[in-house]
Amino acid sequence: MNSQHEKQTDLPQLAQLTAFIDQNWDNLVDSLREWLSIPSISSQPEHGADVRTAADWAQEYLKKIGFPQCSIIETAGHPLISGFWKMNESAPTLLIYGHYDVQPTDPLDEWQTPPFSPDIRDGKMYCRGASDDKGQVFLVLAALQAWAKVQGAPPLNIRVLLEGEEEAGGEAISLYVREHGDELAADSVLICDTAMISPTQPSLITGLRGILYTELAMNGARHDLHSGSYGGVAPNPLHGLCLLLTRLKGEDGRINIPELQAAIHPPDAEEKRFWDEDPLKIAAELAREMGVTELVGENEFAPLERLGVRPTLEIHGILGGYTGAGAKTVIPASATAKLSMRLPAGLSPQTVFSWLEKAVYRACPAGYTVKLHNLHSGDGVAVSKENSAIQAASRALRTVYGVDPIFMREGGSIPIAALFTSTLNAPVVLMGFGLPDDNIHAPNENLSLEQLRKGMKTVAAFFGYLARG
Ligand code: BES
Ligand code: MN
Ligand code: MN
Repeated sequence: MNSQHEKQTDLPQLAQLTAFIDQNWDNLVDSLREWLSIPSISSQPEHGADVRTAADWAQEYLKKIGFPQCSIIETAGHPLISGFWKMNESAPTLLIYGHYDVQPTDPLDEWQTPPFSPDIRDGKMYCRGASDDKGQVFLVLAALQAWAKVQGAPPLNIRVLLEGEEEAGGEAISLYVREHGDELAADSVLICDTAMISPTQPSLITGLRGILYTELAMNGARHDLHSGSYGGVAPNPLHGLCLLLTRLKGEDGRINIPELQAAIHPPDAEEKRFWDEDPLKIAAELAREMGVTELVGENEFAPLERLGVRPTLEIHGILGGYTGAGAKTVIPASATAKLSMRLPAGLSPQTVFSWLEKAVYRACPAGYTVKLHNLHSGDGVAVSKENSAIQAASRALRTVYGVDPIFMREGGSIPIAALFTSTLNAPVVLMGFGLPDDNIHAPNENLSLEQLRKGMKTVAAFFGYLARG
């Protein structure tokens, strides 16, 4: 059976849905450009008004494509956007989640074009938020728009919940979901906020790691000191910090938190085999894409296991001492470090925080004091493959990409995904259309236009398959 024929018999509306996307392509891309131009950086207070503008834009777009109900929900932080499009009582309900906030743009001089001036080159849309996550939210909205054009409404009940502080570790959405869980009742959840392995190999995500983000403050003397008059006897918190950090995680990449090591469950044999064999050579591709000659870390575990389920401890920034022009001979009185951990699903970040705190005290060299602050955290999630929503997603990917998706873990975190699973008791479908070289969180973030277009078509097909059950 040729694939065109299969497509037509498979889902009667598919040809029209695809035609809508192809025929309106330029308009769709223009709309996305508009949204991307709004610098909705959630972690920077000076962009508060921009985050609001991006929320308003999304609400307007929901209205424009036909959502009968949609509203902006005020929170203590950035607003949520909620929409409901009811088809009929007996149809299943899908909750769509995404985030309209973006990461900061630094280092600015490494961008080839300004971060909020969407620029198309080499078949990619370059802009902060293009892949993470405005572009991917937009492709879902475009799929709804296609259904609205083709048959007046989506083929199932649709709820939308978008947040504006995912990148900042904001709590507004989890408070909202905890309080309003019953109003959010859904049979499944769709999140397009991850990446595929390659443009020819779609994947569905079976698990995300949790995250714990902390700040460590170290103090030495009461005030800054002359490094000649005091050097040799004075504690230097920058050096103390280096000692402490290497005691927490040494050259072998192993994290020295015994409680944590003891709490990790051995992986499932089939998954372990996939990690060990790495048949798609994902690790080598990652090394190439990063531009490194060697992968580092716990080399007794396969790279894919290290990426998917092993805990990590990363230093994101160290602040202290003199970093201005020229030289200044100072021994600083204090230093801080931003530290985060990724955690396998099932481990509570709160519990791990208390373990990390103890480990930090243990590792603190004599002569210094330390304090660890918990900035934010999010639970990991493991997704079951045995449900009709995942099957509908696989089928949609196969229809558009021509091959079956593979199931894979993703090392990144989407804090709300775990709460959806537990509060709504609904399976979460993590079907992303990003690619490994999208440069999310980095300069020159981009989204492949081919992925954008296929994403729209895949999600449109997904709605159709899901509606049929
Ligand atoms: N979309 C990402 C999660 C992700 C990362 C998916 C990499 C696929 C590949 C999400 O926006 C994100 O960046 N999450 C943060 C969460 C944190 C700020 C609480 C993360 O993983 O660092
Ligand atoms: Mn994201
Ligand atoms: Mn992100």
